[in-house]
Amino acid sequence: MPDKYYLTTPLYYVNAKPHIGHSYTNIAADALARFKRLQGKEVLFLTGTDEHGQKVERASREAGMSPGGFTDSIVPSFKDLWQRLSISYDDFIRTTEKRHVETVKAVWLRLHEKGEIYKDRYSGYYCTPCETFWTERQVLTEKEGILCPDCRRPLDQIEEENFFFRISRHQKWLMDTVRSGEMLVLPETRQNEVLGFLENNVLQDLCISRPKSRLSWGIESPVSPEHVTYVWFDALINYISACGYPDDENKFRKWWPVDVHLVGKDILRHHAIYWPILLKVLDLKLPRMIFAHGWWVQGREKMSKSRGNVVDPLEIVGRFGVDAYRYFLLREIPFGSDGVFSEEALTQRFNHDLANDLGNLAHRTLTMCEKYFGGRVPEGVSLDCAGPLRREAEGLFASLDLYMAKLDFSQALAEIWKLINRANKFIEESTPWKLAKQADLLPLKKVLVELLEVLRTAAHSLSPFMPATAEALWTQLGMEASPAQTPFAHRGWGSFQKGGKIQKAAPLFPRIEK
Ligand code: MSP
Repeated sequence: MPDKYYLTTPLYYVNAKPHIGHSYTNIAADALARFKRLQGKEVLFLTGTDEHGQKVERASREAGMSPGGFTDSIVPSFKDLWQRLSISYDDFIRTTEKRHVETVKAVWLRLHEKGEIYKDRYSGYYCTPCETFWTERQVLTEKEGILCPDCRRPLDQIEEENFFFRISRHQKWLMDTVRSGEMLVLPETRQNEVLGFLENNVLQDLCISRPKSRLSWGIESPVSPEHVTYVWFDALINYISACGYPDDENKFRKWWPVDVHLVGKDILRHHAIYWPILLKVLDLKLPRMIFAHGWWVQGREKMSKSRGNVVDPLEIVGRFGVDAYRYFLLREIPFGSDGVFSEEALTQRFNHDLANDLGNLAHRTLTMCEKYFGGRVPEGVSLDCAGPLRREAEGLFASLDLYMAKLDFSQALAEIWKLINRANKFIEESTPWKLAKQADLLPLKKVLVELLEVLRTAAHSLSPFMPATAEALWTQLGMEASPAQTPFAHRGWGSFQKGGKIQKAAPLFPRIEK
């Protein structure tokens, strides 16, 4: 098994500040990156911003700024949000950076040398919010006018001289590649969607430029100074420019191919069709996996700035806390399905799963350590006395491996909660308050040590999902180091056999009264 793990998020358009939808991909990517680090992998977690194109140029004009000044002013709002949400990215790439611009130009030249591009007249439509070309056959003709088939917003009709990338002849190869699983497209419904698209459409060569007379905010083509690079063609290349293509051969060899591209379902086609074809033509390996997640919706509409229905993550985090927000997004819906964001559902999860199940388990256990043993972990309990929870606690890591391999964050969290709830039930069954009245305290000690071991396992396994909570719980248990620095290989049952001192603090999740 390779020791490296390279994962990416999409590059976010900087036409507006980030919302819940953007934060979703980065939180999922962060949980995955932290999980892989705990599995002992060396991780490259890449995120960044998509800064060129008509949409950003238009937004900068509306803001009365130059495009460069405008993008510089928005990028910090992404970086600040990622910091606030504990996103542990290793690299942040901006498409306006020199390292990226040079790679894009190198790709242009390589395609040109190989005879893979040609100039022709483009006559059709363009959707600025989606930054997508549409042909006459694809658009929706409604009484409001000619609309984008994806977002149903009005299209611009365009007639331009552009460069095209020959992709049509790769259709059959791509279908075979997707079918064979050589490039995994998940969930399965999305794989079917890609295959369905390829079966039903003749792949049209891809337009990869815009005339400078129409759009100046882009990477100039080294093949024609009158053209800039089409923003999608520019942005996709970030995945190889960030890891050294083409000049830093060692870095590139180390990280490529990417292990997973995390994307929203709306940008599946760009990643699962155009991108692998470009890689093939460049003689590069394909992504191992592309995972397309669902949308957070309000009512029945996708949350997006232009629909004016966005929820500000900072506002939610200010009231519920970062980890509750991360937990909610990852637990509430399977990664791949759509979900409705509502404060009621978040409050319900907070009070039920976090305050009642996890919070109470920690609070009750630590309170009993204080009450019966003066805040110390009871000593004299041998590790050999495997109690009823040990097998479940140790088995948890295997289930997590299984679900995280499928990026099933929700089920992975459900498995952790099974253990937490099993331990809560164990308290009821073993009635420690009665055991405390017996002359022989060994049975009480065994129960408490067992519960502490479960809490340690919970903190450890929660650390990719809720890093601050895991740290806080770990500290309250009197543990040293940090869960994020403790590889999963050290499962650590028996950590409390030498006793120790707990450091009980305020409840982790005080209930929210409605
Ligand atoms: N810039 C392109 C991506 C280029 S990647 C080489 C782009 N940017 S975006 O800012 O519009 O969207 C980025 C990601 O955010 C997409 O994966 C999209 O699905 C996701 N989301 C935007 N709104 C969303 C929701 N309401 N819910 C979940 N994710 C959604 O596309």
